Amino acid sequence: MTPVEKVYLAPMEGVCDPPLRKILCAQGGYDECFSEFIRVTDVVLPTKTLLRDVPELTQNCCTDDGTPVRIQFLGDNATTIAQSAQRAVSLGARSIDLNFGCPSRFVHHAGAMLLREPELLHRITATVREALDPSICLSVKMRLGFASIDEAPALVKAVCVPGLNELIVHARTRSELYRKDALHWECIAQLHELCGSTVLVANGDIIDAASAQCCQKVTQCSRLMVGRAAMAQPNLGRMIKAGAVALSFKEKLQLVPVLFAELMDRGFAEKARLDRVKQYLGFVRRVDAVGAEFFKTFCHVSSQQEALHLVQEYCVSL
Ligand SMILES: Cc1cc2nc3c(=O)[nH]c(=O)nc-3n(C[C@H](O)[C@H](O)[C@H](O)COP(=O)(O)O)c2cc1C
Repeated sequence: MTPVEKVYLAPMEGVCDPPLRKILCAQGGYDECFSEFIRVTDVVLPTKTLLRDVPELTQNCCTDDGTPVRIQFLGDNATTIAQSAQRAVSLGARSIDLNFGCPSRFVHHAGAMLLREPELLHRITATVREALDPSICLSVKMRLGFASIDEAPALVKAVCVPGLNELIVHARTRSELYRKDALHWECIAQLHELCGSTVLVANGDIIDAASAQCCQKVTQCSRLMVGRAAMAQPNLGRMIKAGAVALSFKEKLQLVPVLFAELMDRGFAEKARLDRVKQYLGFVRRVDAVGAEFFKTFCHVSSQQEALHLVQEYCVSL
């Protein structure tokens, strides 16, 4: 089988923000990472919003280790999304993604809600493509359908406008949310022939090198995107592309002081810093029995000092 060509770090709102992108990209060896979705209303995004949400724009739109950041927009207004994308490009962005996959009920008439309106998806994608120089990479990230996987072919035809570079497909419908028992990698394989020159990227439940290989085989995609598992296995990109072994729990714990420092640098209050570190270790414990045991104690800590002390003590004991 051909080797995996590219591994992307998925957009994850409230999880994969600038501090986490910096840390995960330094470990992970990703070809590109994505911003959290940035909501576009009927107003073009101000420069200050773009710089706040994607501070990497000030450094060639790359994380510190040089991983490019693709900026993701979510909304239903083709014109303001296109103009916001132009503004992002003028600030240094080289790739833009359109979110047609977010299943949140709180996202009114945007994200996966738009999967019921293929014509609108077409209009948004075509308008953004026309507004950008052909050298700027444009992708769409979507699910297989709103209520049924049978919707996928029509949706693919709607979004694959000339010049769309990539179509990233999370192999579930909006109704299936994140259900473990609902994952349709095999449906992605049938979409290639509808994509024209657009390259398909497979996403959903890739957790290690073996599942990446299986996903590649089933979907016939050589570009993959990983999300939640990248939090649990910070070097997941390297595991998939270069056969790296998973970090040990001790190595994952050693990222905690780094994460605290990064969050502090970016002005997070102590409570928010603790919540984010607990979120990280909450992902880790899912794949690590020692981590699960450690988390039982860690989730009760109430200050950064206490947390760092516990981590240091534990690292010495491992
Ligand atoms: C907490 C969380 C936040 C997410 N935020 C976004 C987002 O901002 N934009 C987006 O397109 N997808 C978002 N997703 C979906 C992921 O990018 C990805 O498609 C999904 O988690 C499936 O991939 P995985 O099984 O590798 O995690 C989010 C997922 C999670 C769990």
